[in-house]
Formats: sequence, C-alpha cells, structure tokens
Amino acid sequence: MISKLVLATLSLMLVAAPVAAVELSPLESLGKNLFFDKSLSNPPGQSCADCHSPETGWTGSDSEVNAAGAAIPGAVHTRAGNRKPPTAAYAGYNPVLHKAGSMGGGMGGNMQDVFVGGMFWDGRASGWVMGDPLAEQAMGPFLNPLEQNNPNAKHVCLNVLRTGYATQFEEVWGAGSLDCVKDVDGTYQRIGRSIAAYERSAEVSAFNSKFDAFWKNSEGKMPPVPMINMTNWTRFKNRGLTDMELQGLMIFNTKGKCSTCHFLQPMNGSRFPLFTDFRYHNLGVPANPENPYYDMPRQWNPKGEKWVDQGLGGFLAKTAGMTASAGASMDYSALADKNMGKQKTPTLRNVDKRPSPEFVKAFGHNGHFKSLQEVVHFYNLRDVLPICDTPNPPKDAMGGATCFPAPEVAENINRTDMGNLGLTPQEGMALIQFLKTLTDL
Ligand code: HEC
Ligand code: HEC
Repeated sequence: MISKLVLATLSLMLVAAPVAAVELSPLESLGKNLFFDKSLSNPPGQSCADCHSPETGWTGSDSEVNAAGAAIPGAVHTRAGNRKPPTAAYAGYNPVLHKAGSMGGGMGGNMQDVFVGGMFWDGRASGWVMGDPLAEQAMGPFLNPLEQNNPNAKHVCLNVLRTGYATQFEEVWGAGSLDCVKDVDGTYQRIGRSIAAYERSAEVSAFNSKFDAFWKNSEGKMPPVPMINMTNWTRFKNRGLTDMELQGLMIFNTKGKCSTCHFLQPMNGSRFPLFTDFRYHNLGVPANPENPYYDMPRQWNPKGEKWVDQGLGGFLAKTAGMTASAGASMDYSALADKNMGKQKTPTLRNVDKRPSPEFVKAFGHNGHFKSLQEVVHFYNLRDVLPICDTPNPPKDAMGGATCFPAPEVAENINRTDMGNLGLTPQEGMALIQFLKTLTDL
C-alpha cells in the first residue's frame, strides 16, 4: 500500500515538471546548444532565444520592445528588423511554399493563386533549396545584418568550432562534419538542420497545453472536437475545459469564424491541431508607427518612412528568375499583385504565454496589437467602426478602440471571414479564455 502511495506521489511530481522530463536526442541537444549560444553573433551577445524565448512561447522576451515597435534590436543594438518574431515552436509542420491549385476549390476565389507553406510572415524561407523550410530559415538570422550580423557562413562555422560542443557536432554528424575550410556550405546546412531538429523536439513543440489534454480526452468520443457548435457544446463537458473555455472554443469554430484560418484539425502528420492553415491573408492590420525599421539607414530600408510591408506579394515580386534546387522555375512574380499585404496565418499555440500578467506581448506581423482583447475587437468590428487618423484611437467604456487606423495595405483585404462578427462582450471574453488554454506547461 505504502509503496503504491509513494509511487503515485512520485508520478504526480513528474507530471508537474514536464519540461525537465523531456529527453532530447543527440541531434536535438546539439540544436539546443546552437539555439541558445550567444557567441554566434557579431558582436557576441545575441542568440536565437533572445528573440524566441521559452517564457513567452518562443517569441519576443522584452516587454518594453513588445509594447512599442515589437521588432527586436539585433546584435548591433542600433539596428532592428521590420517585423515581430513569430513563435519558433510548431513551425516545423510548415510545408515547402507551393501553390494550392491542385487541391481544388471550396474556399472561394481562384485557388490557383493561393499559396501554402514557407517560413517567415512572407514565406521567403520557402524550403525550395533544402526541401525543409525550417532548416532553411535557421540559416538566415546568423547572417542577417539586422539580427545576428555574422559576415558569412564561414564565420559562424569557425565560431561553432570554438565552442564546448564542437565535439558533440562531430559525434552527431560524423568525423569531419564540422569543416570550415573545405565544406562550409555543407557544415552550415548541418547547423540549420540541427536547429530545426531542436525546434521540432518535444521541448519546443510540446503539445502539452490544457487544450491538448482536452483533445486527448476527446479522442474516440462523439462528436469530434472540430464539430463543436452552439447546439452540442455541452456534450464536451468534463473533458478538461471549463464551461467558459468550451463556449470560447464553440465561438472560435462558429460565429467567430476563427477556425476558417486557424484550423481546428491536425495537419501534416501532427496529432493535435496546429491552429494555422499555412496560408496567407491580408486582414487589413494597420501599420505600427513605432516600428524601428522606418528609421533604419537607407542601406537597409531604401524607402524610409514610406516603407510598406507587402508580405507574400513583396516576396513573390522578387521570384523572377528563381529556380528550385532541381532546376524547376519558381517564378511567381506574375502573382505578386494578388498577394500584396498577405501575411502567413500564425499558429495560436502559446499566444498568451507570458512570464507574468503585466508582461506585454505584441500581436500581428508588426506587433500593432498589444492584447488579445485588441485583436478580438478588431476581428469583430473592423468593418463597423470608422477609420481614424490617430495611431492611438479613443477608447469606449469597455476599453475598446472607437475607430481603427487605415490598413497598412489596402488591397486584397479579407472581407468575408472577419470585420463584422457581431460578437457580444461575453462571447469575446469566452474566446480569449479559450485562447489561454493553448499555453504549454
Ligand atoms: C533579432 C531578433 C531575431 C533573432 C536573433 C532570430 N530571430 Fe527568428 N525571427 C525574428 C523575426 C522578426 C522573424 C519574422 C521575420 C519575417 O517574417 O520577416 C523571425 C522568424 C523566425 C521563424 C519563422 C517562424 C514562422 O512561422 O514563419 C523561425 C522558425 C525562427 N525565426 C527561428 C529563429 C532561429 C532558429 C534563430 C537563430 C538562428 C532566430 N530565429 C534568430 C527575429 C529573430
Ligand atoms: C482569414 C483568415 C483568418 C481568420 C478568419 C482569423 N484569423 Fe487570426 N490571423 C490570421 C492572419 C493572417 C494573422 C496575421 C495577420 C497580420 O499580422 O497581418 C492572424 C493573427 C492572429 C492573432 C495574432 C497572433 C500572433 O502571434 O501575432 C491572433 C491572436 C488571432 N489571429 C486570433 C484569431 C481569432 C480569435 C479569430 C476569430 C475571431 C481569428 N484569428 C480569425 C488569419 C485569420
């Protein structure tokens, strides 16, 4: 009896500390060392984790930055990029950037022009070179002058050679795999693939939120979670979500239309929903006037204050003459105009994860929104409230903006799935309670 009790207590303790319980494979552990290594920037001091921190759900870890421009300064502190970091977790399920044409209609509009997959808000880490957008993405920040600022891949390679885990690198990838003279390109790809393995590991993509427990409890039961609606929602009780959270999930899947884009189904081999369609949409999000990129030197931002974030369209415009590794043409420049202003649907996993209640998180590609309330208010009333000139609109009694600034890009705005949802304040609050269940332990 007693030993059974002790065992039960022990297993409870294990459940209480799941992060420590995750065992990483040698490859994932190497990737972790690279991800947290502050010596891999120029000057030293900035790691991937500085912009993708576990405490915030693998995104920006500076509350003050989030409250303002939301783009995090690089290793050279006077420089900054132009977007808010999306989470580095769960990104590994993104397919290579491709056109959805072959998958047929049903979504309205011309499916031939719909793009799926790729990494970054604008899809430019396409995966066309290595076949893995996540590994390709990981090779970007080290060399970006506005981020870790290394002059070239060789410099990164030589830095890795000097670290304490250099031997681990050769243990994982084989003798001679960390070669900064004869095989810089191959070594640099192995660095990218190691980091991607860590980002895909159970430590980063944990699937251990309250929602995931609810999903597991619902497996094999009727009705399935993606069918939740106004008439059947009470049948989902006693599976781990409170009544309010369940109502929020029901709104998410019905009146709120959120699951039209933040899919409530497992995708690409995941056991649980990923809350993204891997597609691109222009929601008409206003610009963030505090974005530090507007003031960057012309060398990086030739347009200065007139710069506009064109999203996927901006990337497609640059694909003229591009080919994939197999030599096929990847020139989609003719479709650029139809995709101006479209940004990739972010996963909503960990969207509310923060180190303390006062910690400010930024939402949207440019961090225009500073709370989930603001985001929901915008989805609910974008096309109902007037457009205003001021970046800080006056608030109503409930604290909601009484007007919205003009969209950053006026073309291609989605008007069918959002903008006038007719949500009551209670429904909005339930929706937010549901979003909070997506926080990993
Ligand atoms: C200075 C801050 C900064 C640093 C350092 C940084 N990132 Fe990012 N990261 C960003 C920003 C900003 C974006 C979005 C950029 C864009 O869309 O143009 C991003 C995007 C990503 C994405 C894409 C996620 C998605 O869903 O599209 C991944 C994955 C990622 N970073 C991983 C990393 C890794 C790995 C490193 C280290 C090698 C790293 N980041 C270093 C700021 C940073
Ligand atoms: C038409 C597709 C679509 C619909 C419908 C939709 N979203 Fe989104 N969502 C997006 C895209 C795309 C973005 C990024 C937009 C941007 O930054 O320009 C986004 C961003 C967000 C963000 C910010 C996440 C972050 O990390 O910055 C939240 C929160 C969010 N959506 C919640 C919701 C909720 C709640 C609903 C339902 C009321 C909803 N979405 C409906 C596509 C959609």
